[in-house]
Amino acid sequence: MAKRRIGILTGGGDCPGLNAAIRGVVKACYNLLGEDNVEFVGIAEGYYGLINNDTREMKPREFSGILTLGGTILGSKRTPFKMMKVIEADDVDKVAQMKKTYRDNRLDCLLTLGGNGTHKTANLLSEQGLNVIGLPKTIDNDIWGTSVTFGFHTAVDIATDVLDRIHTTAHSHSRIMLVEIMGNKTGWLTLYAGVAGGADVIILPEIPYDFDKLIESVNRRIDDGKSSFSVIAIAEGALSVEEAALKKKERAKRRAEEGITTATPRLVKQIQAATGFETRAVVPGHMLRGGSPSAYDRVLATKFGARAANLIIKEKYGYSVALVGEVITENPLADAASQTKFVPEDDKVLKTARDIGVSLGV
Ligand code: F6P
Repeated sequence: MAKRRIGILTGGGDCPGLNAAIRGVVKACYNLLGEDNVEFVGIAEGYYGLINNDTREMKPREFSGILTLGGTILGSKRTPFKMMKVIEADDVDKVAQMKKTYRDNRLDCLLTLGGNGTHKTANLLSEQGLNVIGLPKTIDNDIWGTSVTFGFHTAVDIATDVLDRIHTTAHSHSRIMLVEIMGNKTGWLTLYAGVAGGADVIILPEIPYDFDKLIESVNRRIDDGKSSFSVIAIAEGALSVEEAALKKKERAKRRAEEGITTATPRLVKQIQAATGFETRAVVPGHMLRGGSPSAYDRVLATKFGARAANLIIKEKYGYSVALVGEVITENPLADAASQTKFVPEDDKVLKTARDIGVSLGV
C-alpha cells in the first residue's frame, strides 16, 4: 500500500475540541492503516499556511496528550473566503499558491477543520481538483447540514455558567443584567445557554426584538412582584425590529454613528431609562471559546475525526463530516458551504423557551 500523506489545517476562530478532532483522525488512521502507511503534514495558521507553504511533517508523539487541550496545536487565522480569488497588493494568486503547496508537499488529501468560511474555501479547493475533507467546528453551531458542530456544547456550558453567576449578583443588587453571547449572525449559543441558564429574556438575531414588548416583559416581572431583577441573554448579532428593516450598510452606518458594534450598549441605556432599574452588561466574549472541551465535545470531535479517517481510507473526498440525528455521516462540501444554519422558527428548544414563558422580546 502506498503511503498516504494527509495535510491538516484549522481555519477561522478556534474552539474547544479542535485538538480532540485532530487526534481522532490521526489515531484512527494509524490504527486502521498502520502507522507506517500514513503521515501527517501540519499546516500552520489555516489557509494562511497553505498559501505560504508554512508546513511541517508531524511525528506520532505530537498527537499525544492533546485530547483535553483547548485551542489548536496548528494555530489558526482568519483568511476570508471573499478575498481568496482577489489578487491584492502583494500580487499573490492565493488559490494557485494553495494548489502549489498541496502539490509540493505531495499531499493525497487535505483535512480542513473549520466553520462556514473555512468550508467555503474547502469547497473551492475541492472544485479546483484537490482531495478535501471538512470537519465542522464552531461555537456558533451555524454550519448547514450538521445538527451540531464540535465546540458548541462547551461554549454552551461556559455561557450557562456565566448566566448562573450573573443570576446571583443580579438578585442581590436588584439589577437588570444583560449577558451578550457570541454566535456571529445566529442565536444557537444564546438560545441553548439562555434556556440552560434560566434567562428571563432571550434575544436572538433570528427574531428581531421589539423594544416596547421587551420592556413589557421586564416590567411584568417587576409588577407581578416576582422579582426586581432580570437576566437577559442577548446574542451579539441581535437586531431591533427597526434595524432589521434596514440594508446591512445603512445599519452599520447608524451603529457607527451611535458608537456601538452590537445592540447591547444601546439596550442597557434604554432599559435603565424605561424601568428605572440599574442595568448593566457583561460580555464574556472569547472566554466562550477558550479552555478544555467538554466531555460531549471530546466524544463528538473524536467521532468526527474517526469518520474523516474512514473517508480517507475509502478515498471519498469532497465531503464534510456531519451529525444528522444520531448518525455520524457526511454531506457534500458544496452543500455544507452553501448556506448558514439559522435557528428555525420551529426549533424545539425555541418552542421550549416559548412554552415556559421566556420572553423573546417580541
Ligand atoms: O465564529 C466564532 C466566533 O467566536 C463568533 O461567535 C464571533 O462572532 C467571532 O468568532 C469572533 O471572531 P474573532 O475572534 O476573529 O474576533
